Amino acid sequence: MSFRLQPAAPARPNRCQLFGPGSRPAIFEKMAASAADVINLDLEDSVAPVDKPEARKNIIEAIGDVDWGDKYLSVRINGLDTPYWYRDVVDLLECAADRLDQIMIPKVGNAADIYAVDALVTAVEAAKGRQKPISFEVIIESATGIAHVDEIAASSPRLQAMSLGAADFAASMGMQTTGIGGTQENYYMIREGQKHWSDPWHWAQAAIVAACRTHGVLPVDGPFGDFSDDDGFLAQARRSATLGMVGKWAIHPKQVALANAVFTPSADAVAEAREILAAMEKAKAEGAGATVYKGRLVDIASIKQAEVIVAQSELISSK
Ligand code: COA
Ligand code: MG
Repeated sequence: MSFRLQPAAPARPNRCQLFGPGSRPAIFEKMAASAADVINLDLEDSVAPVDKPEARKNIIEAIGDVDWGDKYLSVRINGLDTPYWYRDVVDLLECAADRLDQIMIPKVGNAADIYAVDALVTAVEAAKGRQKPISFEVIIESATGIAHVDEIAASSPRLQAMSLGAADFAASMGMQTTGIGGTQENYYMIREGQKHWSDPWHWAQAAIVAACRTHGVLPVDGPFGDFSDDDGFLAQARRSATLGMVGKWAIHPKQVALANAVFTPSADAVAEAREILAAMEKAKAEGAGATVYKGRLVDIASIKQAEVIVAQSELISSK
């Protein structure tokens, strides 16, 4: 326990982040018209090296020209291990309209990576007299990233969100899979001759949630590659929501509605949370710290649990 209050994460819905390659400007308007809370225009791994300059140009034009409505608008830059990232940052910060909200930094390994990008962004913002400070989001997708997850979460006041990137993470960890998230055939236990599948992403997700909640950052689940498998996406998203994550990426437009459904608390869940709050109000008026709700214990901790659900619901309905 600490006497310090846990800082609040940014108060904006982040249920779904829809990605699209910067080299495919034909889909930008469709992305803007989607129901995603966050748009991620990509300069990194969905763009071939030869297309990087053109993708930068497309994205910079689209930031100013497309009507993005109330979307939180983010651009994924290239990793700090590439020759592209500094040009991504300089061109975006020098040329993109103020409509740009955020840049996403992939393959982050430690707090110094964020410091380096922060220094460059801060200098260009000052030189150009940009009025709106750019926020950051990062992807944890390497062994070193997860090993330094806490210092990364604490690295900059610009940092608003942190995602788990399952594919690069699996490669960096040497995991024997080519799947991007979801159930892994060989990750099971045997009981009475039956296989019971477990979740190989659980540890990394829980570490990310803990680091994010400690430092007031939004924890987000990354991509689910098999966009033909809605049930697999839903199962992964529900596990993430149960662990405390606020949203998930969509790498195909059909995943947006699935993510929004999972990360919007259901009417039943909100009604139950309000009933728990009412039961605790009544208990408090009677001088009790605990009471019984539907045959189970609720106490002062239950108030905080119920408030998480009510607050998330109110944030979304205020959008
Ligand atoms: N955002 C918005 N619209 C998209 C889209 C996206 N990311 N991807 C496809 N669409 C549109 C298509 O243009 C098509 O529109 P239409 O019905 O008006 O013709 C419709 O959605 C159906 O597309 P579909 O044919 O099923 O997919 P595709 O073969 O065109 O593209 C992908 C499939 C996976 C290549 C594409 O969705 C994509 O590039 N996703 C993002 C990849 C990415 O950014 N990865 C980096 C993060 S991991
Ligand atoms: Mg990646």
